[in-house]
Amino acid sequence: MSLLLACDVGADEAATWRAALAAALPGEHLVETSDAADDIEVAIVANPRPGALAGLPRLRLIQSLWAGVDRLLADPTLPAGVPIVRMVDPAMNVAMAETALWAVLALHRGFFRYARLQREGRWAPHGQRRADEMVVAVLGLGQMGRSAALRLAAQGYRVLGWSARPTAVEGIETHAGAAALDALLARADIVLDLLPLTPATRGLFDATRFARMKPGAGFVNLARGAHVVEADLLAALDAGPLRHAVLDVFQTEPLPAGHAFWSHPRVTVLPHAAAQTDPRSAAGVVAANLHAWRAGRPLAHVVDRARGY
Ligand code: NAP
Ligand code: GLV
Repeated sequence: MSLLLACDVGADEAATWRAALAAALPGEHLVETSDAADDIEVAIVANPRPGALAGLPRLRLIQSLWAGVDRLLADPTLPAGVPIVRMVDPAMNVAMAETALWAVLALHRGFFRYARLQREGRWAPHGQRRADEMVVAVLGLGQMGRSAALRLAAQGYRVLGWSARPTAVEGIETHAGAAALDALLARADIVLDLLPLTPATRGLFDATRFARMKPGAGFVNLARGAHVVEADLLAALDAGPLRHAVLDVFQTEPLPAGHAFWSHPRVTVLPHAAAQTDPRSAAGVVAANLHAWRAGRPLAHVVDRARGY
């Protein structure tokens, strides 16, 4: 039986994955085409092209190398009934918490403004608030959101968390359900999006939602670009209430040349790099999941297809 590696990534990245997986899975037969479709039992996928998993009659397990599985689930040819395991790697959680802390700290202290002033050759110090005077709303309290929320709380921020179902996180004031969101946004100096992309979160941040936010609020999207109505975000930056947005993800990636976000003075752009899957640690996660599955042990982090994450 073979393992199919289906990656829609560049040649260098594919080569890195090939080497890391071969080292972590000695003795396994790793293939990159579905020519011998009858032989493929497991697919290891990184954001694969639609159709990449069609026509595999013996497929029994799909392991995603990405945390977010929205593109995978959107593939109409995705085999039904085959369990999908998401990438959950503590190293990725740490990377996301670091990016979240950087973005929140820079918004809180106005460091993005200082970077702009430097380009203009202007010396104009502004006032300084303490971390405990800043309310940060972390939307999504899963692997990424929880790690970020805990890191921000440890740094002294007042953190509010939001999830679909009620949950408790030490040191965080948590809220759940759609009805709780607007009240949370109204209290937050900084809103940090770490939600998955599902029908419920697509377009969540539109003009109505931005209008709920505090005057001068910062908005950070490290999750998925399709959460945001981009024209409404630009309007909220230009006419209020938003002061600055930090964006790692976009409706179209790579962000097209000439897009307004590239040159907007109060937008900071990252190239979908907030928390990359690191093959050095993630290949071990894949191997552990595969061994658990082969041994008949319960699988962790199986995607709930009905919920969409
Ligand atoms: P996760 O562990 O599945 O957590 C998702 C969280 O979102 C859960 O707390 C869930 O609530 C909450 N949620 C889902 N739908 C909701 C809704 N409609 N209302 C309120 N809360 C909702 O996912 P994760 O591993 O943290 O990853 C989250 C997302 O981050 C991924 O899907 C991906 O899009 C993004 N991501 C981005 C990067 C990057 O580099 N930019 C890297 C990795 C991941 P419950 O707990 O109640 O279900
Ligand atoms: C990256 O965005 C991921 O979902 O892993």
